[in-house]
Amino acid sequence: MPTDPQSPYLPFGDNTHAPWYGKDILSVKQFSRADLEYIFGVAHEMRGMVERIGTFDLLKGKILANLFYEPSTRTSSSFTAAMERLGGSVIPINEVKYSSVSKGESLPDTVRTLECYADVIVLRHPEVGSAAIAAKAARKPVINAGDGVGEHPTQALLDLFTIFEELGVGVVDGLTVTMLGDLKYGRTVHSLARLLSLYKVKLNYVSPEILRMPKEVMDEVAAQGIPQAEYASLEKALPDTDVLYVTRVQKERFEDPAEYEKVKGAYVINPAIMQTAKQQMIVMHPLPRVGEISTDFDDDPRAAYFRQMEYGLYVRMALLAMVLGKA
Ligand code: CP
Repeated sequence: MPTDPQSPYLPFGDNTHAPWYGKDILSVKQFSRADLEYIFGVAHEMRGMVERIGTFDLLKGKILANLFYEPSTRTSSSFTAAMERLGGSVIPINEVKYSSVSKGESLPDTVRTLECYADVIVLRHPEVGSAAIAAKAARKPVINAGDGVGEHPTQALLDLFTIFEELGVGVVDGLTVTMLGDLKYGRTVHSLARLLSLYKVKLNYVSPEILRMPKEVMDEVAAQGIPQAEYASLEKALPDTDVLYVTRVQKERFEDPAEYEKVKGAYVINPAIMQTAKQQMIVMHPLPRVGEISTDFDDDPRAAYFRQMEYGLYVRMALLAMVLGKA
């Protein structure tokens, strides 16, 4: 892989990417531009294969343990679908309260248990650094599916793949990407900002004062020479925006419910607001949404958030194939 000579990604036969067999995927900091273009080349191939034949046996006989300590619809089900599309099977642990975690079993022991039965472990956990702890305990590859307010690397990969597929390979340099909403607790925007800093983009951050992008992330992005600007309102940033990345204000991350009440509903994307945006741009959202994008915008061709979820399937198929030595 990639085997398609028409692929817009790295040329057929280019093998400059790092070897991913047996590797953990914990942070976007692991990836170079060449790695990303390789992953997206494989994901693009996966897309073609799913469209042509649906399911195939690349990972026949392999087993994924899907270990989720926090709720998930997209990440959990797309990893399941990815494994099954590749001919493998899944041990689903979506409700840890029904597992031995409820008896007090530690994360390292849970991971050591699952790797007796599975070839790869996908983990979502509420604590920052949990995926790294699991990876240290495990001999098999661990994929971080979100560690608290830390990172969500596979989401950032699918977000960037969405930009490549929607706006064209090779256009990322020069884009203006505006991130909107909860930039403090939103792990997806932390990972995406870091990943985008590998390209020559401009980043705008629009948020309430108490939900600004963390300084640590902004410092890392600034160190890559990426221009960044912060706004309290969307008005000034929207007309130049090529990618508007909307996030949910995450009620579950607030210690004080009164603080959540002050900022919920701070921004709502709707057809009237989008009149000042470019016609050739996309609106993305990691989802779920709780009102920050009005449903009457859903039929606008710029609304890419449902297509974005589908791109996640292809990226996760690529990652599973890579860490299991089949890509
Ligand atoms: N985007 C995302 O992580 O969605 P889920 O929480 O449904 O997995």
